[in-house]
Amino acid sequence: MRENTYGRAKRVDFIGRALDRSEIRSVLDIGCGTGAELTIPLAEHRADTTFVAVDEDSKSIEAGRNAVDLPNLTFGLSGDLDLSRRFDAAIASEVLEHVESPEQFLAFLNDRLVTGGWLVLTTPNGYGPFEMTQIIETALWSLGVLSGLRRAKRALTGKGAGPAADDTLALSPHINFFSRRDVERLLANAGFSVETYSPRTFLCGFGFDHLLKGERTVAWNAKVADRLPSGFASDFMFVARKVGAPGKALAYRRGAYARWRGALNRQRMGL
Ligand SMILES: C[S@@+](CC[C@H](N)C(=O)[O-])C[C@H]1O[C@@H](n2cnc3c(N)ncnc32)[C@H](O)[C@@H]1O
Repeated sequence: MRENTYGRAKRVDFIGRALDRSEIRSVLDIGCGTGAELTIPLAEHRADTTFVAVDEDSKSIEAGRNAVDLPNLTFGLSGDLDLSRRFDAAIASEVLEHVESPEQFLAFLNDRLVTGGWLVLTTPNGYGPFEMTQIIETALWSLGVLSGLRRAKRALTGKGAGPAADDTLALSPHINFFSRRDVERLLANAGFSVETYSPRTFLCGFGFDHLLKGERTVAWNAKVADRLPSGFASDFMFVARKVGAPGKALAYRRGAYARWRGALNRQRMGL
């Protein structure tokens, strides 16, 4: 898999290594989207592990089902998940920032795991480079400048806005914005102990995706994130273990910044 500014190869590698434990034979991937970026590459390389991939978006699930036919991978809608079943591991990659209640979402995942089960969670740094570029992109959009810039680019280079994301077909805005500490507090409160942390990449998003070209630059961008303080990462990745039941304390409150960003993102998606 070719690396990109978002660290797609670094993520598959990080999650793949987390799943390479002899006790993991069943994996729930929640918010799997189309499965193109993560679930399918993981399942293709782990024939002896069963993957149940669920999403609340029917179009994404349909796309996943049409993309591959693997005996160890089942796509389904979240509502159809067999709630009596428990998994050895769960993946929630780039989902926590979309959910109405992060506490309830993590408590649900805790309940779906066997005792000692593993959770792999990735989510953007709500204050990192990627989310900062999103503020600029959204500001340009609200001023009506973004479409003009895209037209100018097409005229100059013959290329459009670039390929659309293939991870999901859902219109699902970011409504939560976390620091690393926020995520760690949420995980602890939900009965998980963080075993491993890794940043994904340093720079990505509007502008950087076009500026950072070439294999070596893209590889540097993924590597340098490991040496920088976590506040400089665009995205956080965690492996956590279920060590108990979820607590009752409120671990995350959507503040004014998150409410403002969430409202802008909803507006931009026409929701
Ligand atoms: C950015 S995509 C991530 C897709 C995939 N995990 C990946 O990283 O390639 C976020 C996905 O989460 C899904 N989603 C959001 N909230 C959800 C929820 N409460 N339950 C299940 N899926 C959810 C959306 O429909 C969307 O497909």
